[in-house]
Amino acid sequence: MDSLGLFILLMLLCFQWTIAPAADEVTWTYIGLVGQTEWSQYFPNCGGTSQSPVDVVTTQTKYDPSLVPLTPLGYSQHGNKPLNMYNNGHTVVIELPEWMGLAGLPWLFTAVQMHLHWGSGGPSHGGSEHTINGLSADAELHVVHYNSELYPNMSAAMTQSDGLAVLGILIVTGEETNPAFNSILNYLSRVRHADQKALIPAFDVESLLPNDLGRYYRYNGSLTTPPCYQSVIWSVFHERVQISKAQLLRLETILYSSKTEDTDRMLLQDNYRATQPLNHRVVFASFSAESGKELSSGEVTAIVIGVMCGCVGLAVIIRFIVKTIRFFTLLHRETVAVNSSTSSWDVLPSNRPAPMPRMEEPEKAKEKKQDVALNTTADGEKKEEPSPSPQTEP
Ligand SMILES: *[C@@H]1O[C@H](CO)[C@@H](O)[C@H](O)[C@H]1NC(C)=O
Ligand SMILES: *[C@@H]1O[C@H](CO)[C@@H](O)[C@H](O)[C@H]1NC(C)=O
Repeated sequence: MDSLGLFILLMLLCFQWTIAPAADEVTWTYIGLVGQTEWSQYFPNCGGTSQSPVDVVTTQTKYDPSLVPLTPLGYSQHGNKPLNMYNNGHTVVIELPEWMGLAGLPWLFTAVQMHLHWGSGGPSHGGSEHTINGLSADAELHVVHYNSELYPNMSAAMTQSDGLAVLGILIVTGEETNPAFNSILNYLSRVRHADQKALIPAFDVESLLPNDLGRYYRYNGSLTTPPCYQSVIWSVFHERVQISKAQLLRLETILYSSKTEDTDRMLLQDNYRATQPLNHRVVFASFSAESGKELSSGEVTAIVIGVMCGCVGLAVIIRFIVKTIRFFTLLHRETVAVNSSTSSWDVLPSNRPAPMPRMEEPEKAKEKKQDVALNTTADGEKKEEPSPSPQTEP
């Protein structure tokens, strides 16, 4: 009887082990036992055909002129109410007030939260989820919204194909500190361990975004973490935002994926998913390859200055030519009274013979230009020349 009891107990245990635990009870990770290659065993959507992130191959994107600039709504009207921030063991999440939203899509979307993905080992060691032409950025910010025109809340929307809109902001490392990101990074130490929560001062969320909200890549994809619902209209901005190396290192080294009570502390690093196959999907671009060469304000300034310099240069040349014509006209009339202080010909011997008088006036001017060029480039030569006769004369 005892052995039968033991047998039944074993059977029960086996049964419990073999039925997959409820998906929301599984502790998934990026590497390890329930790492990203195993996600689909527990979360079937993760094995779907429209998964995120993806590698954006810019030459294979399709320009869609109907993709208008995205407009953040109320991102800057943060008010005084602090924002809720928490470490969920996978990332740091900042909840967003429901008056923040997104326009520029076929429906109005309401902001829910934002979070980050990053790597380890500092700059140029990966960290972003989306890649452009195979290249990773150092980190990536996701601002998550749900379709509040069609669905009552996030949980209802997140399983629908048009339920969510996520902004993807690629973050690279540079020299300068990005003060906007300090509104998050300064408070990471309050949520070092998984499940910790903190209130942080509200701040201008729009200041985290790139300046150019008109150029982005658009495709249909998924949540990049389990349960990987294929419910996201993705917009990955073409312009990257920059943080300093010190800021990146803080992001990479402050948080733990382990809980406060866990004896083994695990740094929360490399929380980015590998890029997924596009399969049948097309990535659209809100800008064409030609307009990809559209000018930044710096370039516009450079061109304006260039054009101004060009105009000044042209004025100088025209003035020079006019003077030259005047000089030769004077010579021709044999009223040789060259004013050496204004003539560019003052290096020439004053007994320079008159040019051929039969030339027509415009032709003559052209001829003179050539003459000038020759004389200025072969100055030294000319001085030694005993004959002052111009070589270009026919
Ligand atoms: C979301 O909306 C659905 C459908 O109206 C409702 O059943 C559910 O309780 C709501 N969830 C939350 C978290 O409000
Ligand atoms: C996303 O899917 C919807 C529905 O299938 C489709 O109408 C839309 O064009 C797709 N958008 C992109 C960017 O592929």
